[in-house]
Amino acid sequence: MIDPIELLRHLADGAFYSEQELASRYGMSRHMVYQSLCKLKEFGVYVERAGGCGYRLSCPIDLLESQSIRTRLKPDYASHVSELEVFPSLDSTNSYLLRRAAQGAPRGALCLAEYQTSGKGRRGRRWVSPFGSNLYLSLLWRFDHYSAELSGLSLLVGLTIAELVRSLGGNEVCLKWPNDILFERKKLGGVLLELSNDKTGGCYVVIGVGFNVSMPLTEGRDIEQPWTDMASILAEGLPSRNRLAAGLAEALLEAVLSFEARGLEGLPHAWRDYDCLHGSYVTLNFPSTVKSGRAIGIDSLGRLRLERDGMEEVYSSGEISLRVDA
Ligand code: BTN
Repeated sequence: MIDPIELLRHLADGAFYSEQELASRYGMSRHMVYQSLCKLKEFGVYVERAGGCGYRLSCPIDLLESQSIRTRLKPDYASHVSELEVFPSLDSTNSYLLRRAAQGAPRGALCLAEYQTSGKGRRGRRWVSPFGSNLYLSLLWRFDHYSAELSGLSLLVGLTIAELVRSLGGNEVCLKWPNDILFERKKLGGVLLELSNDKTGGCYVVIGVGFNVSMPLTEGRDIEQPWTDMASILAEGLPSRNRLAAGLAEALLEAVLSFEARGLEGLPHAWRDYDCLHGSYVTLNFPSTVKSGRAIGIDSLGRLRLERDGMEEVYSSGEISLRVDA
């Protein structure tokens, strides 16, 4: 069988290739080529066949390359990346790094996958993860001790990603507490932070980001809320996926390094600039109750500040779902 990524690299330009051409290139039988092409379907990649012309990808693919991502990282950030792996397919980049962390993987391990078979969203939701079109990326970081502020780290990550999107020209980007990155009220990306204690009394976090770059319409139909992608936001000048992946990796590193240096200092103020809930009436759904009030920003631990009957209350994200009232 031909390595699926090797085959995809060859087909990535969207041109037609005959079975014979591919067979000679890989020194394999035409039947083996055919089987390898069929195998691509397992990743959700479709190959068209046109009599006389051969095979081509239904859509050209801009594949991720670990070396290309690494060379795009600014040296100050690259020095913190202990390993950088790109997989054709994983169950979930977060689950992979959680497994690796339990086996002692170092801080700064970064991984990306072209495709996730069980991509995880917040609150047990599935993260729709089609092949080669968006970005699914996770970073492992270790801390000497647990701090209550860690619950706000995912907001800091959202903030650095929003700053990245704005720097690329997506000026309407905003943040919906706690972890949604929106553009014109449609979901562009999300952050899932998973935390665990280690044996030495410290703890580690795996910070996962799903970022819509060029969502295929068929897969987009499976998403249960309005969504958008970078291809729609930046009609011209969409950076390559490798460049965007490097930008996201830097945003994650910026967040953890700043957290190590200053905790969540300055977050409530910086959040205000992107906060799409500020001043809106919202309803928080808890497992057994609901609370409504006016969102008035976040506090120094990243908790939502809600004004209710003239009093202020704060809520941490936990298992809450939040709806903006009409
Ligand atoms: C959300 O629900 O908004 C958070 C989504 C986080 C999805 C990313 S994709 C990369 C990483 N691996 C996962 O399984 N989930 C996160």
